[in-house]
Amino acid sequence: MCGIIGYSGGENALPILLDGLKALEYRGYDSAGVAVICKNAVRVVKTRGKLESLTQKLKESDFKGSVHCGIGHTRWATHGEPSDLNSHPHGTGCVCIVHNGIIENYASLKSELIGRGAVFSSDTDTEAAALLIDDLYRKCGDPVLSLIKASDRLVGSYAIAAVFRDFPGKVYAMRRDSPLIVALSDKGSFIASDIPAFLKYTNRYIRLDEGEIAVISENGAEFFDREKAPVKKRCETAAWTLEEAEKGGYAHFMLKEIHEEPYAVSQTVGPRVSDDGMPLMGIDELSDEKLAGLQRIHIVACGTAMHAGLVGKNVIEKLAALPTDVEISSEFRYKDPILFEGDLVIVISQSGETADTLGALRLAKSKGAYTLAIVNVIGSSIAREADGVIYTYAGPEIAVASTKAYTVQMSALYMFAIRLAYAKGKLSQKEAKDMTHELLYEIPKAIEKALALEEKCAHIAKKYVNSKDIFFIGRGLDYAMCLEASLKLKEISYIHCEAYAAGEMKHGTISLIEDGVPVFALATSERLLKKTLNNVLEVRSRGASIILAVREGFEADGEICDDVLYVPAVSELFMPFPVSVLLQLIAYHFSLCKGNDVDKPRNLAKSVTVE
Ligand code: F6R
Repeated sequence: MCGIIGYSGGENALPILLDGLKALEYRGYDSAGVAVICKNAVRVVKTRGKLESLTQKLKESDFKGSVHCGIGHTRWATHGEPSDLNSHPHGTGCVCIVHNGIIENYASLKSELIGRGAVFSSDTDTEAAALLIDDLYRKCGDPVLSLIKASDRLVGSYAIAAVFRDFPGKVYAMRRDSPLIVALSDKGSFIASDIPAFLKYTNRYIRLDEGEIAVISENGAEFFDREKAPVKKRCETAAWTLEEAEKGGYAHFMLKEIHEEPYAVSQTVGPRVSDDGMPLMGIDELSDEKLAGLQRIHIVACGTAMHAGLVGKNVIEKLAALPTDVEISSEFRYKDPILFEGDLVIVISQSGETADTLGALRLAKSKGAYTLAIVNVIGSSIAREADGVIYTYAGPEIAVASTKAYTVQMSALYMFAIRLAYAKGKLSQKEAKDMTHELLYEIPKAIEKALALEEKCAHIAKKYVNSKDIFFIGRGLDYAMCLEASLKLKEISYIHCEAYAAGEMKHGTISLIEDGVPVFALATSERLLKKTLNNVLEVRSRGASIILAVREGFEADGEICDDVLYVPAVSELFMPFPVSVLLQLIAYHFSLCKGNDVDKPRNLAKSVTVE
């Protein structure tokens, strides 16, 4: 995730900006840059790569002497691959900005501004915001007003810090749906996206509210509302250590990332919804005409990404009635897969670097298939080599166990399935819009509700933490969820787990059930409820302890289970979203109870670049 730091004060700004960026490194980034005002000009130094490259570039530049005000940024690419030109800051000789978030209407703003003579030099959405602010500033000559006016035009999420050549000792900032904090110290004032950026200098900070503008200078900070009226703000004190601050106050990155899921879903879906509410693929080869002609889909991925693919298969087959296979990358790449004309191969990867998935992608391409990648890391190998890419905008995932990346992979697949079903005439426009609306607005709310059930999840984990074996059973989409729940739990708790299609247990595995073995039964489909409950009875009568997860509104007979989890209700097809959050929380608490290293489970790496 990108990071922002801004400083104004009596000290030399450059080391302070670099310190701030260093403290934001943990968020993950692919490029970095700074802008300062020096001798009546905005000076920018930026580069692809790590902070060492930026420091080196600063040494080599003719950027000498002490400056007292500036902005800095670590970029995690969203629009445009990691490169020197796409790095922040962006702007003109007059106005320069750094930005976190996504400007959804950047394309239309860009053509409007080009029409008025603006010259763009990057592929970023940020540059459209920068040149818009510059354009507005030239008309009104007032930085605060130009930010207010720009916020009327910008669609999407943003935290922006800006410097204006004509106001050399000040940094201006505004935000919508992306955090920004002002901090005050004896040495000057700060603006930052995150507390660690200024913690070395001060722990006194003020949170900027939605739509507010902040102006910092050597003497402190001023705040304005959208009418440019001054706003009084309350100063808070951060009692966190640097390590606690990096995790946003959560005990682990995994927990922080689970809590980021509502935002991650809106970030992934929001930019791909048209003004009239239809999902957009934004890829020529996936026009409605091309989608309508598809004959078969192959989804290829590893681990959790493959499990997201299994959910995708269910949804694509249900909505678009198109046969869809899901294959493990390491199997697909060595099995001489049968691919026909009109087949689409979708590869899914959080990191975009998984060796087996990259190998599978190359094989599919060599066989002439059109390849679409669903990837979280911009400019990664898989993203570069696939014919088309749908980026998931979850921000970097630091915990080894994948949580938010899984959820956004599902979101991208739902959007794809809805558009595909519409293109194939299986959904009317109204149905497609209603589903897209549910995905964009109702799912984040349902995830929030699931997050509120954390205490119940912790209770279940505590109760069953000494188990040697745990089973997950379910049917249909619930079975796909079971596979992921089982992987997540074994991965971080080191307890042996198995996931089974509920109706399959009696064909062999049920012999493993004995007194007290926990069986998590997922039953969120009305149509399959009775069938799954029959399977629950089969294992219960052999001594299993049952933890039943049912959709809110279903009756759960206390006789049939030891514990019940009522999953916040959304339409049946969308139940994987709240269900998976609960299962992730349960896995997290198992690991916590066992005293394991939650974020770095043994024997595992975040990115598997060997086959
Ligand atoms: C499990 C997990 C792994 C990854 C798998 C694929 O929590 O994170 O199973 O999902 O290694 O990684 P990516 O998505 O980077 O290709």
